Amino acid sequence: MSFSFPESFLWGGATAANQIEGSHKKDGKGLSTSDVQPFGAFGELVYREEGDFNIKDVAIDFYNRYEEDIALFAEMGFTCLRVSIAWSRIFPNGNDSEPNEMGLAYYDRVFDEMAKHNITPVVTISHYEMPLNLADKYQGWASREVIGFFENYAKVLFKRYKDKVKLWLTFNEINVTLHEPFTGSGLPRDCSEQTRFQAIHHQLVGSAKAVKACHDIIPDAKIGNMILGAIQYPLTCKPEDVMHTLTQNREWLMFGDIQARGYYPSYMTRKFKELGVELNITEDDTESLKETIDFISFSYYMSGCASTDPGEAEKASGNMLNIIANPYLEASEWGWQIDPVGLRYLLNFLYDRYQLPLFIVENGLGAKDQLDENGEVIDDYRIQYLNDHLYQVGEAVQDGVPVMGYTSWGPIDLVSASTAQMSKRYGFIYVDRDDKGNGSLERKRKKSFHWYKSVISSRGQALQGPKQ
Ligand code: BG6
Repeated sequence: MSFSFPESFLWGGATAANQIEGSHKKDGKGLSTSDVQPFGAFGELVYREEGDFNIKDVAIDFYNRYEEDIALFAEMGFTCLRVSIAWSRIFPNGNDSEPNEMGLAYYDRVFDEMAKHNITPVVTISHYEMPLNLADKYQGWASREVIGFFENYAKVLFKRYKDKVKLWLTFNEINVTLHEPFTGSGLPRDCSEQTRFQAIHHQLVGSAKAVKACHDIIPDAKIGNMILGAIQYPLTCKPEDVMHTLTQNREWLMFGDIQARGYYPSYMTRKFKELGVELNITEDDTESLKETIDFISFSYYMSGCASTDPGEAEKASGNMLNIIANPYLEASEWGWQIDPVGLRYLLNFLYDRYQLPLFIVENGLGAKDQLDENGEVIDDYRIQYLNDHLYQVGEAVQDGVPVMGYTSWGPIDLVSASTAQMSKRYGFIYVDRDDKGNGSLERKRKKSFHWYKSVISSRGQALQGPKQ
């Protein structure tokens, strides 16, 4: 690529508290919804007895090893790092009257460590977890009261970290409640459509109230949303497939439409009617939603296809979605279809729609890495995946899309959200831990570590274009 990414482009990696920190009860932390998902977001919920195994209790022990890990990120040249705050470290029960000082102090230490290395924090306020008490007592976001608890939590964060954090995201993959209601909103899995959409509504209002609080408390900060960029293509050019694909894409676009425009899109009126959903929207809700985000952030791992008549077409598994496989694409070991051009397409598509800056806050390849006879991880497949996607980001930048940055998912191996496996590895840094929790937790640079470092230092010039 004879093209350099802009100097202001942020390069880094993305993580989530419950997938890296461990120390799930330390320093006053309360249990979170993630703590009862020992088998991951798709697995059964287990209210464990003391002593039962959950890999996330230790995860990769970032809670105690953040200095070493941040130094490794700095060695790669990271200019940003996406982390999330565990809500239950700050409000152990969600509805406590005072925040937990030890939890707040922990994130102070993490942000200070990043600052030492000139790494800009990008902070998700809620990433796939909430205090378990809110799920148990209030049915999670089904309850309107949770809006107030969340707003209070967000305000505490903004006041405490206003000098340290200038880039915020409200909810990770806010559209996930459509696919996994407990993970997204603390709802029972068999909830009705009415409950699900009312909870989504409350969450959108909570998000908008956090945006307002951020604008008021930290006027020089930027706050974005975060959506699972589940772009789908029509399986065929049959008009019915094309129309159906539009409807499918609107399922996730609805979230960005509300967060970026400040009101429900008109196509939802028909959708709610067909589902028999009648939302309770107060005047205050309508006012609150008007506070819109400053940028759009999203995760992108794969694309998929949609059709009204899939016939024998193969299903694709993937990132919480239920989609049809694209016959032109290959897939990862977990069946996630690999589509680098889809990332350029999505960036252009979102910019055409919103005219807002975009931030790719997750993208990466989960793979079963093996140590070779020299104890090294030669992860050429990961380099290929990331190279091809980043090259397409460069294309999108040249298309005129204002891309703020790129954080690859899991710059260090971490626990998988969907399956709770350690063996589904994304990192540039290998962590010695297996699915059963065996291992020294020692960190080791993979081949991709050196590759990413060269990409960052060359501002993308080291990327290779597609083979002709
Ligand atoms: C995203 C989530 O959906 O995908 C992350 O925001 C998650 O939390 C990532 O880890 C990859 O998914 P998985 O299931 O491979 O961990």
